[in-house]
Amino acid sequence: MNEVLLELKNIHKAFGKNKIHQGVSLTLHKGESLGLLGGSGTGKSALLRSIIGLERIDQGEIIFKGERIDHLPENKLTPYRIRISYSFQSGALFDSINVFENIAYPLFEHTIFSYAQIKDRVAEMLKLIDLSGKEELMPSDLSGGMQKRVGMARAMILNPEIILYDEPTAGLDPANTLNVVELMQRLKEKGLASIFVTHDIPSAIMLCDRIVVLHEGKIIFNDTPQKFQNSEDPVVRTFIMSSKD
Ligand SMILES: Nc1ncnc2c1ncn2[C@@H]1O[C@H](COP(=O)(O)OP(=O)(O)OP(=O)(O)O)[C@@H](O)[C@H]1O
Ligand SMILES: [Mg+2]
Repeated sequence: MNEVLLELKNIHKAFGKNKIHQGVSLTLHKGESLGLLGGSGTGKSALLRSIIGLERIDQGEIIFKGERIDHLPENKLTPYRIRISYSFQSGALFDSINVFENIAYPLFEHTIFSYAQIKDRVAEMLKLIDLSGKEELMPSDLSGGMQKRVGMARAMILNPEIILYDEPTAGLDPANTLNVVELMQRLKEKGLASIFVTHDIPSAIMLCDRIVVLHEGKIIFNDTPQKFQNSEDPVVRTFIMSSKD
């Protein structure tokens, strides 16, 4: 088995009296894609946010390459937020700046690259997301799927080791969904590990090595996509059935 990149050990998290995670444990290996499924409000986004310290866990450990990171103060988290990139549910582009500036933003923030180097790197990312030459377009000129891909390019530009995708295909039509999933597949082929939070079961099955289901604060399923599809666990079955149109 490949090197363990990320380990969540016995995570507990509550918002007031609302207990969200009640002993969540997970491991993510190098190059692996993990699909994180669960009903609305089960705490999938909160779990991704906890991994990069945007949310603080109440109990448990988050370990990245053998190093515990859940206790780090805010000012020590930046390097980990570069190595573990979070691709937001909304795409979260800046509306008032163009595609080039959106994708280049982390480079201007975190590197001392020259303008020429940044231009090359952005062009390389645009090629990867199949939007070569679109530097000058504004987010409002793009389809929903293109916006998601630009958001993913920005999340990728600092060469992270892990990418956390929060519903990258939500709200997209089938053609745009396929484009986004194909991009995720290309990134996976480059060796990038990911956690893919989604309600889109077919996409998760297509992309992921392993499927995990979060239910009532715990992981109730953790196995291959095939075993997931054939599971006889009543909670898993109900979840699969309720996710169909
Ligand atoms: N910052 C917060 N303060 C208080 N409650 C929160 C906060 N963030 C999330 N919650 C609550 O925690 C629960 C889990 O939220 P979360 O957004 O993680 O769910 P989710 O599984 O991502 O749902 P969805 O599939 O709808 O995106 C919800 O009940 C939500 O209202
Ligand atoms: Mg969510």
